[in-house]
Amino acid sequence: MNFNNIKIKFLNEIDSTNDYLKINIKDKKIIDDYLVITNKQTNGRGANGRNFFSDENGVYFSLAIFNKNFFNITPKVAVSVYLAIKNTFNIELEIKWINDLYYKNKKVVGILCERLLNENCIIIGIGIDLYKNNSLSKDMENIIGYIFDKKIDENTLIRNIVDNIYNLLDSQIPDIYIKKNRILNKDFFYKGKKFLAINIDKNGNLIGRDEFGFENVFFSSKDIIFNVTN
Ligand code: BTN
Repeated sequence: MNFNNIKIKFLNEIDSTNDYLKINIKDKKIIDDYLVITNKQTNGRGANGRNFFSDENGVYFSLAIFNKNFFNITPKVAVSVYLAIKNTFNIELEIKWINDLYYKNKKVVGILCERLLNENCIIIGIGIDLYKNNSLSKDMENIIGYIFDKKIDENTLIRNIVDNIYNLLDSQIPDIYIKKNRILNKDFFYKGKKFLAINIDKNGNLIGRDEFGFENVFFSSKDIIFNVTN
């Protein structure tokens, strides 16, 4: 499968592209791989129940894939976005374990992969802050970055990301996920305890070492706090 043979829908505005797919899959209106793309979400969702800011300066899309190997999907999607932006625009983002990408020390990409119970299907949601928003508050400006100074061909970018995702489904997580990860050798806190990020294993789990030299494996980024500057 690739970008050329999946169904694609463009919407001017939607609450959430992940939710759009979820509802239509549950209603059996979507039964094959499907991509939905918008430039504005009114209820964009992030990981761990957070909101995802989704104004007109970005592109937001979700890809439903049926009946494939979804193992370690989130790191593979992060690499797919990283490679697409590097190869198409020669811009190098940094990956932040587990599901974000950064540019110039600000988050510019968020990824939310959701499995549907009862369906052998995954919904891969990707939000990219493409252009500068001139009306952000100072607080928001410190958090939300942007990648491009000029309008780009957004469909080419999405095509490359989607094709990379399909190509990586049956592979291991590429080494680049670890090499380009900005958290390695940085401190983080989990339940008030300090750890040093020493490695990411081949399944994308973070290995943290505590102050006494004990190593712990972290499967998800929930409850893990990196310093703002990380
Ligand atoms: C995160 O940073 O916590 C994940 C953000 C994922 C955002 C994307 S945008 C397209 C898709 N639709 C959503 O509601 N969320 C994902």
